[in-house]
Amino acid sequence: RSILGVMDQFTKKPMKKIPENYIRPEQEPSTLSHGTHPLPTIPIIDMNYLSLQGDAADNFELEKMHSKCKEWGFFQLVNHGVSFQLLENLKQEIENFFKLSSEEKLKYKIRPGDVEGYGTVIRCEDQKLDWGDRFYMILNPVHRRKPYLFPELPSSFRSTLDSYYKELQKLAMKLLGLLGKAINMEMREVEDLFEDGMQSMRMTYYPPCPQPELVMGLTPHSDATGITILHQINGVEGLEIKKDGIWIPVNFLQDAFVVNVGDIMEILSNGVYSSIEHRATVNKVKERISIAMFFNPKFEAEIGPARSLISQQNPPLFRRVLMEEYFREFFSRNLNGKAHLEKMR
Ligand code: SIN
Ligand code: FE2
Repeated sequence: RSILGVMDQFTKKPMKKIPENYIRPEQEPSTLSHGTHPLPTIPIIDMNYLSLQGDAADNFELEKMHSKCKEWGFFQLVNHGVSFQLLENLKQEIENFFKLSSEEKLKYKIRPGDVEGYGTVIRCEDQKLDWGDRFYMILNPVHRRKPYLFPELPSSFRSTLDSYYKELQKLAMKLLGLLGKAINMEMREVEDLFEDGMQSMRMTYYPPCPQPELVMGLTPHSDATGITILHQINGVEGLEIKKDGIWIPVNFLQDAFVVNVGDIMEILSNGVYSSIEHRATVNKVKERISIAMFFNPKFEAEIGPARSLISQQNPPLFRRVLMEEYFREFFSRNLNGKAHLEKMR
């Protein structure tokens, strides 16, 4: 079963009280201060200083990206090269999409047995719901696109998304190549896994909530991806990452993408990188919109610690599994911290 989002349920009938199935009394609080110290902010990496040429050790920015990915698993990427105009168009199109009437959005509703489309999959009766309206779909390989999703979007949205997905695919390949290089993977290995790999997206509209401390925009989880590139469309903050046991808000940085390594990168790197738990909170007054692009190996690929990294001194920490199978497993459960990755050990 699936349901549509918060807006579609409550706009017609203004809500007096937050419905019970959205309330999460057990949630961990956000960290607002760190004693007398300012809260740490996530690292910034400048794409202009990253290069695939030369030795990893000679490349200061690559060294920095490598150490920040180990320490934080997250960074903000500046000078990423995606044009301002494309991002403006994307913002407009996504805002327009979420403004469509519930009846129009119903066309894209998640169908029984599926995970792609508009809304949320309901797996059990007492499932806690997220305070967000979302649309998830696979964009690549193109033959995996659901005929009732991408091809049915308004044509201007389609062409903007097509440009965006290609631009981000190029960017992601560069980043994956760089991370591979930093952990001494062979370039061929990275390409064999990720070239024309599985790419999907989730766009989310988080409506304001009268009692934001009672709900969650997106349940804590780590991403089941190689890497994820997040664009916070309208500049409203809400993403938080769990670092050293506390929830730290990610500040909004104009013209930057938030990049994080996912479970598959943790597996590939045999634990050198660690995929970090994160969540999305909501606020009282402002709506928030984001689009996350997920980059994964091909469905046919086998994932496991990179063979070039494994030795007697460095035995594999994870078992090998087909991407297709890994993915099916992931989507058969509700999001739940890093539980999915733990099953791979
Ligand atoms: C968001 O910040 O809106 C989404 C974060 C995520 O994709 O996990
Ligand atoms: Fe995520």
